[in-house]
Amino acid sequence: MPLIVDIHTHVYPPAYMQMLRARKTVPYVHDPSNNADPRLIILSSDDDPSIPPDQRGRPVDSSYWDISVKLAFMRQHGINISVISLANPWLDFIEPGEAQIWAERINDDLEATCAKVNKDADPENTRPIDQKETLFAMGALPLSAPDPAVVVNEIKRLKTLPNLRGVIMGTSGLGKGLDDAALDPVWGALQETDTLLFLHPHYGLPDEAFGGPDATSRYGHVLPLALGFPLETTIAVTRMLLSGVFDRFPGLKILLAHSGGTLPFLAGRIESCILHERKFVAAGGDVQGPRRSVWDVLKTNIYLDAVVYGKPGLEAALAASGSDRLLFGTDHPFFPPLDGKDGDWPSVTTNYKAINATFESSSDTVADVLGGNAARILNLK
Ligand code: URA
Ligand code: ZN
Repeated sequence: MPLIVDIHTHVYPPAYMQMLRARKTVPYVHDPSNNADPRLIILSSDDDPSIPPDQRGRPVDSSYWDISVKLAFMRQHGINISVISLANPWLDFIEPGEAQIWAERINDDLEATCAKVNKDADPENTRPIDQKETLFAMGALPLSAPDPAVVVNEIKRLKTLPNLRGVIMGTSGLGKGLDDAALDPVWGALQETDTLLFLHPHYGLPDEAFGGPDATSRYGHVLPLALGFPLETTIAVTRMLLSGVFDRFPGLKILLAHSGGTLPFLAGRIESCILHERKFVAAGGDVQGPRRSVWDVLKTNIYLDAVVYGKPGLEAALAASGSDRLLFGTDHPFFPPLDGKDGDWPSVTTNYKAINATFESSSDTVADVLGGNAARILNLK
């Protein structure tokens, strides 16, 4: 059996849950007065006053905060290593003065959780990797801090925590999106410390794109999660490209959630629109425009998770970035089976099947995507 590494798997540490429970505005957790599971209200469209609070958002249970539930899920699905990350909306909404303290609290908690699990599973560090569950983590960033230097310091501090591998970040950056020049010190620190950035969506598209505020009551989360999330990722990374982030920081390493949203599929169109844009200097305009092509960035700076639930999406990701840049993930604990959590999760088995179907002629490539690539890229030893 190949080594299986899950690079897209989330937690809300208990301190974060407690903070969400104390809040009354998005993001927050609502505890119903009956014995039902609490509700997680993190998307702005979830906070619909016409829906009773105990039906808003989605149920949230111990799979979000209890690491023993994560370990059982790993065992059930044959996952050897999980690289856990704080789930959305991370620390984006934290008061500026508290951002640093929350980042340190969350990241120290993630480090302590990994260290304890790894030690408990193998006190002498002698057991083979495929006979235990091992954890690493990606850190959260204090992006709402008053000064980007706070973010830079945390990126550097994370390098000193033995089980931390990379950082997770949403698409709002310091509040103005990822083409904001004020982020340059952050890109510089990521490049200098050779830190992988996991870019993950949260904000989606405005409700109007989906038919207005009652779209959620009609179709639940299908439109924001299936379409809003991937387009958000695509727009964010395209704005980085257009503003020259990859020209200024050619050593950046970015893992895109959900196989890059729609970036692999739309890369040709993006490149064509750049080529035909009169504003850009190459066409006689007055704006620099990107010097590196989308294709070059996809094959040099971008890694893609294999969380796309189907062969066509995976083939687009493969063609755009290459099989050595594709990494298995689950998005646990989101997308649980609705008929009870004891059986295999279709959200996981669908991705296993897509990987096997796409690379059926090469078991080595299947092994790379399932875990070999992640172990190499994130130095998981
Ligand atoms: N997956 C996530 O990571 N977050 C969500 O809110 C939904 C699915
Ligand atoms: Zn996710």
